Amino acid sequence: MNLTDNCGRPLLNLRISITQRCNNRCAYCHREGEVQRANHSAEKMSVEEIVRIGRVAISLGISRIKLTGGEPLMRNDLPEIVAGIAAVPGLRDLSLTTNGLLFGNGLAKKLHDSGLKRVNISLPSLNAETYKKLTGGRIEDALAGVQAAIEADFCPVKLNMVILNNINVNDIPDMIKYAGGRGVVLQLIELDPINVSGNYYTAHHRSLDGIEAMLKEKSITIEQRPFMHNRLIYHLPNATVEVVKPIENNDFCMHCTRLRVTSDGKLKPCLMRNDNLTDILTPIRQGASDEELKELFLKANQLREPYNKKD
Ligand code: 5AD
Ligand code: SF4
Repeated sequence: MNLTDNCGRPLLNLRISITQRCNNRCAYCHREGEVQRANHSAEKMSVEEIVRIGRVAISLGISRIKLTGGEPLMRNDLPEIVAGIAAVPGLRDLSLTTNGLLFGNGLAKKLHDSGLKRVNISLPSLNAETYKKLTGGRIEDALAGVQAAIEADFCPVKLNMVILNNINVNDIPDMIKYAGGRGVVLQLIELDPINVSGNYYTAHHRSLDGIEAMLKEKSITIEQRPFMHNRLIYHLPNATVEVVKPIENNDFCMHCTRLRVTSDGKLKPCLMRNDNLTDILTPIRQGASDEELKELFLKANQLREPYNKKD
């Protein structure tokens, strides 16, 4: 049995932000919708606290967990977090969103051995200059990260490419070729206006409709994922491309099956909102029982509602 919110949407996924720190500084970063705080240098949740939140979630049928940030690889104790969650009975999927820069030196393999199944690597461009300009990082390090992830046998490896008008739209064909050649999935993501300035959004938001029309024409088959925002997957002759279109998309919100945990331990029902958070870390530190923590999840679930909805 799964929890269902007041709009009938099942709760299947938990997205846990385990740090606000990042070794990149992407101009477009939505920081998982968290309001930036002055001091975000120290980790707020311990390994035990994160694993406990994961365990309670799994006991409620939320069996797919994604670790995110900031940049999760910034935490040296990430393998312990992964191993702790991976060991919980009932877990069906454990994944990570990363910029991949620190995947070298055996870390990708170590995380795979700890129980991590799949990864999304943020890669907005293959062009060294564009990558540098967008993220502040070195493309060589990012590509080494992708290679390490492939060699560590994550399945699938997905590349997250946020599309930015006048910056990387023309890089899409190269990215399709690169992804297809390595057997990894390319995910094209429409820019979300969260935590980016109005000017930046106006200058760089680009609807993905035209790109989708092009993909449609080239596809052999097209798949739909009802429990992942109803997003479409285009199977091209030599590559697989997913399209994520969150903006003013009623369908996207109606098919949202997620709850988030902020880096400071609050249950967050919607990426777009910060006015309906439920603190779970403070009760944990005050000795709350698993039953009490479950109640907090039930409360947060009741607060889930589609951000974009039909009037
Ligand atoms: N809009 C859409 N996607 C974003 N990401 C980061 N910021 C934004 C934004 N403003 C994506 C990155 C990262 C994932 C966590 O979210 O590609 O991989
Ligand atoms: Fe944000 Fe990810 Fe870029 Fe870091 S690498 S700034 S977390 S989008």
